[in-house]
Amino acid sequence: MHKKPYNNIPLDSVIIEQGLGDCPPAIEVFQEIDSTNLYLKNCNNMSAQRICLAEQQTAGRGRMGRYWYSPSAENLYLSFLYPFNMELPKLTGLSLVVGISCIEALEKLGIKEKIELKWPNDGMYQGKKLFGILVETQASALDSYVAIIGIGMNVNMCDFTEELVNKCASLYNITGEYLDRNLLAIELIETLRTNCKKLTTSSLASFSAQWQKYDGYYGKTITINNQNYNGIARGIDAQGNLLLELADGTIKILNSGDIN
Ligand code: BTN
Repeated sequence: MHKKPYNNIPLDSVIIEQGLGDCPPAIEVFQEIDSTNLYLKNCNNMSAQRICLAEQQTAGRGRMGRYWYSPSAENLYLSFLYPFNMELPKLTGLSLVVGISCIEALEKLGIKEKIELKWPNDGMYQGKKLFGILVETQASALDSYVAIIGIGMNVNMCDFTEELVNKCASLYNITGEYLDRNLLAIELIETLRTNCKKLTTSSLASFSAQWQKYDGYYGKTITINNQNYNGIARGIDAQGNLLLELADGTIKILNSGDIN
């Protein structure tokens, strides 16, 4: 694709706060940080919602101890500290809800191309990864947990490293346009706040229609690579576990792993 000149608009906490209307959460933007998730994990006050964004991460963290490539000023690296007043088991489906929220936010921004979810929470475009989610939970008080929701989304990046070029996509690849990351952050934070609240007041079941709509693997033959299972993906259960139909017809319930 021919590249347009990139007129980069920097991330700006004031613009994001204003875009969020009444009672926005505290928002901090860093030029460079090791990891936005790590920053929130180590902060002192965990009683209120809090957002951290960075132009660049030097030690971006992915699931299962992996590294998240975080070049400067092109993408979105956002972490959201959300105090949930609920027990840990009710939070098992949170990362799925975050994946749904990402696609809903993109749709609200007018991006209508088909973006799919790959269990548990990768966002995919034509088989390439568009966003990844790392949810980390910490106990705060008796039976009460704080979630640190980390989202890495490839936005305006065009030049991928040799390792990533066949595996990753960006919003620019999809639309051919550069996107103002402040607008994306506003939409994403708003959608996340709405959906996190919905998860506390109801349950993962209230998101099942959305999951089915975005599930890119239902009915497909898949391999769970780190557990050596092959089978047909049959959606998720009430806790957000993956249901895998094995060759003998039995259903294997998986609570972790990566789809290949
Ligand atoms: C994955 O797909 O493995 C999850 C990637 C999550 C990356 C985001 S970028 C913002 C936040 N800070 C981090 O260090 N990681 C998450």
